[in-house]
Amino acid sequence: MESKMDVWQASAPSNIALIKYMGKVDKENNHPANSSLSYTLEHLRTFVQLEKSSQDQDTWQPLEEAPLELSDKGKKRYLAHLQFLKDKYNYKKIFVVKSKNNFPSDCGLASSASSFAALTLAFYKALKEESGVETPLAEKIECSRKGSGSSCRSFFNSWVQWDEQGVKQVSNIGYDDLSHLCIVVNRDKKTISSSEAHQRVLQSALFHSRADRAEQRLKELKDALIQKDWAWAYQISWAEFWDMHSLFETSQPPFGYMTSESLKVLTSLRNHWQHNHDGPLVTMDAGANVHLLFRKDQGNQINSIKDSFTRNFALIDSRDFNGYV
Ligand code: PMV
Repeated sequence: MESKMDVWQASAPSNIALIKYMGKVDKENNHPANSSLSYTLEHLRTFVQLEKSSQDQDTWQPLEEAPLELSDKGKKRYLAHLQFLKDKYNYKKIFVVKSKNNFPSDCGLASSASSFAALTLAFYKALKEESGVETPLAEKIECSRKGSGSSCRSFFNSWVQWDEQGVKQVSNIGYDDLSHLCIVVNRDKKTISSSEAHQRVLQSALFHSRADRAEQRLKELKDALIQKDWAWAYQISWAEFWDMHSLFETSQPPFGYMTSESLKVLTSLRNHWQHNHDGPLVTMDAGANVHLLFRKDQGNQINSIKDSFTRNFALIDSRDFNGYV
C-alpha cells in the first residue's frame, strides 16, 4: 500500500497580462523580448498531484476523472518539464502526474501559466521531502519559467511584473481586489500555440519597435493605476492587446485568433465605455476570448455587461468561485 508520503499536491493560479509577453530573445530559456505586467487570477487554478509510481517512466492522467484531456503534444511538454526538474536535481523517482483545472479546459483559456506553476510547486514538495532542503522561491520561479514563460508570474498576486531583473510583486498599484469576467467567444483549441506565436511574431515588421512600445505602456499603465486614472488604464490596456494581435496579423505569413464574434464583443465594450465614461479594463490573450477586469464598485456594470452577453456566450465570473481564493 502506498504511504501518504508518496503523494505530493500543489495548486497554482492563472494570470492575465495587461502588458503582454510576446516574442523571446532566448527561446531555450524563455527570456522575453519585453517586460510584462499581469493580474493574478486566484480563482482560476490548476491542481496537480504527483504519485510515486512503479512504472519505468512518468505518465500523465486527469485528476479525479476531471474532464481535462491533454493532447499528446501537451502531455509530452508537461512531462518534459518534470524531467527537466528531475534532471536538475538528479531526482530519480517516477511519478504518475495527475492534474485538473477548476475552469473549463475546452474553452481556450490560457492554462499553461497555472499548470506549469502547479507542477513545479508539486515537484519541489517531493524534492524537499527527499532532500530536506527548501529550494529558494527565486529558483523555483526561474525553473517554472523555463516550462512556460507566463507561469513565472503566477507565483505572486495580484499585480506582477516580469522584466530583465526577474519577477516581482508590484504592491503600490492598489486595485488588488478586481473582479474578472471572461467572455468565452470560442471554445475550440488553438491551432497556433503561444509557443509558436512567440516565434512567428519575429517575422512582423512591427516587431523591431515592439519592446519600446511595451516598455512605454508598462510605465504608463502603472502610473495610470497608481494615480487611479482608470479610463487611462483602459486605453493603454486596449492599445496593448491590439498591438499584440497586430503582430500576429502582420507576421509573414499572417495568423490570428480574433473571430467576428470577438470583434462584436469588443465593439460593444467600446460603446459601453463611450456611453458610460466608465467600464472594465479589456484585454485578450493569444485567443478569441475577451477578458474584463472590474473595480469592486462596478458590480452593477458587471451585471449589465453579463446580461448583454449571456444569451450568446459562456461567461466565467470570478464572483462565482467562492472558496478557491
Ligand atoms: O507562457 P506562454 O509561452 O504560453 O506565453 C503566453 C503569452 C501570452 O499569454 C500570449 C501573453 C502573456 O503575457 O501572458
